[in-house]
Amino acid sequence: MIRVRFLNADGSLAAETVAAPGARLLDLAQALGLPLEGTCEGAMACSTCHVILPRDLFRALPPPTEHEEDMLDFTAHVAPTSRLSCQVYLPDGIAEFTASLPPGHTNMQGR
Ligand code: FES
Repeated sequence: MIRVRFLNADGSLAAETVAAPGARLLDLAQALGLPLEGTCEGAMACSTCHVILPRDLFRALPPPTEHEEDMLDFTAHVAPTSRLSCQVYLPDGIAEFTASLPPGHTNMQGR
């Protein structure tokens, strides 16, 4: 199992869980009640599922498709390691996975 952490834009912990390799990042975030809307349900038409990954994890994943990169070009607060979480599946062979919510998506639950 992989320990998955979601961070707020300020670096504070938003939520954490454990999941098996192959789990989709957006599904995990939504199960935790995080504010990643995923309005298009993974059709790469909304970018409301945008997250920012650490550089090492970004490099460990299969690269984004051209369509995903095109969507990210129109996304607010995009970073060099941004991904659409609907396109990210937890890889094999890692113990931990961290993703940051972009600014404006701070999880207000539990505060
Ligand atoms: Fe719409 Fe990811 S859910 S682009």
